[in-house]
Amino acid sequence: MEVVILPDRATAGQLVGGTIAELVGKRPEAVLGLATGSTPLVVYRDLARRHAAGELSLGRAQAFLLDEYIGLPTGDPEAYRAFIARELEAHVDFAPGAVRGPDVRAGDLVSACDDYERALRAAGGVDLQLLGIGTDGHIGFNEPGSSLASRTRIKTLTAQTRRDNARFFDDDVERVPWHVVTQGIGTILEARHLVLLAFGPEKAAAAALAVEGPVTAMVPASALQLHPHATVVVDEEAASALHLADYYRETWSHKPDWQAL
Ligand code: F6R
Repeated sequence: MEVVILPDRATAGQLVGGTIAELVGKRPEAVLGLATGSTPLVVYRDLARRHAAGELSLGRAQAFLLDEYIGLPTGDPEAYRAFIARELEAHVDFAPGAVRGPDVRAGDLVSACDDYERALRAAGGVDLQLLGIGTDGHIGFNEPGSSLASRTRIKTLTAQTRRDNARFFDDDVERVPWHVVTQGIGTILEARHLVLLAFGPEKAAAAALAVEGPVTAMVPASALQLHPHATVVVDEEAASALHLADYYRETWSHKPDWQAL
């Protein structure tokens, strides 16, 4: 696992945006895994900027969302599909139908989860998966206790996650859905490159447990330690509880120019 500590989230957005641009430059039909929430916005802004500057086309790429709320009213702007349409698709050139999320309106949700797994496989798997981290250590919406081998399925959000996400629902926790469909930890681990971003002091404890704690279902993000190509990009605040922070800084500052993330 590589841990990159950067001064601020804008710099992180540029670094990860550059990595995605490089991937798509080499492999235009790349499959991207998209996270939602506040953390990846800096990356989406960077991709939009690169597209506007004529440096990046996602016209042949595909993308899969990590997760989706169940039960939001039709057209709710906080649905993750709507979030990605607004924050990323509107600013780049994905082909129609190239961005997919779990079908949470299907009559048979269990089959819809299996269909999503099949669609991921049919696309050849995810090349680069963006991840945020919950204050309780979740990735996707795999809450503590999720099997490290789990696949796409229905989950119930913890009270902590519902409280954290109330900020997207006018601070009304009652409006935050109880249920979601999320890619499982086993599903996420099949992506070829995992890039987890964490910003701000509220993520420091979870980031430290994920990177330096034991691998445990109680901290789902600790599953990244099992992955051969995982990158964790944090700002100084989110890095504040890392024991080996100085080592990560030295490693990054001495990294050879030719070696990508
Ligand atoms: C969202 C997702 C979640 C978020 C996490 C952090 O698609 O997968 O794991 O990444 O809840 O959310 P923010 O970025 O809003 O702090």
